[in-house]
Amino acid sequence: MNTWREELGTSSEMMSLMQSIFANVSDAILVVDNGGVIMKVNAALEQMTGWTESELVGCKHICELCLGMATCLEETSCADCFFKQVQMPSFEMRLKTKDGRETLVAASSARLPDESRGKLVLVLRDMSAQQQAEKERYQNKLTNYVIQAQEEERKRIARELHDGVGQALYSILVGLNVVGQGQLSDPIRQHVNDLLQMTSKAMEEVKRMALELRPSALDDLGLLPALRSLMKRVEKSFDIQVELHVQGERRRYTAAIETALYRIIQEAMTNTAKYARASQLGIVFDDRDKEILVTIVDDGVGFEVEKTLHEGKGLGVFGMKERAQLLGGTVDIRSAPDEGTTVIVRIPVSKEETEHGNSRADR
Ligand SMILES: Nc1ncnc2c1ncn2[C@@H]1O[C@H](COP(=O)(O)OP(=O)(O)OP(=O)(O)O)[C@@H](O)[C@H]1O
Ligand SMILES: [Mg+2]
Repeated sequence: MNTWREELGTSSEMMSLMQSIFANVSDAILVVDNGGVIMKVNAALEQMTGWTESELVGCKHICELCLGMATCLEETSCADCFFKQVQMPSFEMRLKTKDGRETLVAASSARLPDESRGKLVLVLRDMSAQQQAEKERYQNKLTNYVIQAQEEERKRIARELHDGVGQALYSILVGLNVVGQGQLSDPIRQHVNDLLQMTSKAMEEVKRMALELRPSALDDLGLLPALRSLMKRVEKSFDIQVELHVQGERRRYTAAIETALYRIIQEAMTNTAKYARASQLGIVFDDRDKEILVTIVDDGVGFEVEKTLHEGKGLGVFGMKERAQLLGGTVDIRSAPDEGTTVIVRIPVSKEETEHGNSRADR
């Protein structure tokens, strides 16, 4: 059997292989002479820069394509240009394209041996897609971190309110009850009764604030019980009739999914309460095995979605979308004046993202 060395035995075969590699690799390759003038380019370089071979070869100097370079340690000035080095295995270059854009490329350069009269080969790889992906990954990580920190802080404040202020108010209530049972003149008794009422109102308020900050039911019992208690609070406070329909499998999800869905639905309900002047709010929670689909519909005044969101008055809708995006999902808002508002939330889930298997403890 022939070895590959034998197959490529003749120099013309080797030459045609080299030419084919030069023409077909996805990295851009250019050769410059010892004065820096471009002598040869491959198709990938034409595609990367937008210039054709005839616009580059013999016409352009390498400096006309380079907008600066950097090593992994620092930005590099022209004094340390790769062109002055024998070899530079790895650096970044800002490449100028024909339409005036700037593309970040990973580059390496090598000077050919003496018989090539100092020609330099430059290999470039487009990094803009990677850079964009890296930027998005970093942005997502940061947003995730901020959201998690915010949830932790809300949990801490809710606990402090419940255990600190809540307990102190309860002690005052007990004390006032004891005082109220003693022998008191009528005006003092009236005063004690007023204080009792004010204290129990304050206790209720603290409880409501703690619940809104972070309902313990969300961690202990799961999303749906927490949603049901949120619905009751909205019904009571805003005189809106709220209904929840649950379809599909009943299970617990990861804390990240449960928290995100709770916050998204909470914001949608708050928006309805604040702006819609609605009388009814319907929520359909549908576990479709691979995704959760939540639809929140109100019969309120509606609004022009694009226009209103472009005005950028609030952060609520933006936050809803961001929370969903972090989990690979979406939030879609459909509304028009006098036509009510529908919020459609989709969050993908897999079996691994089910925290407690098929537990039905949340119903
Ligand atoms: N269900 C709804 N019915 C009518 N208008 C709505 C509804 N939901 C949102 N809007 C409109 O969209 C705007 C943007 O909502 P968004 O939640 O982003 O901000 P916000 O509620 O004004 O402020 P924030 O949520 O930051 O406190 C609202 O100001 C309101 O005009
Ligand atoms: Mg809002």
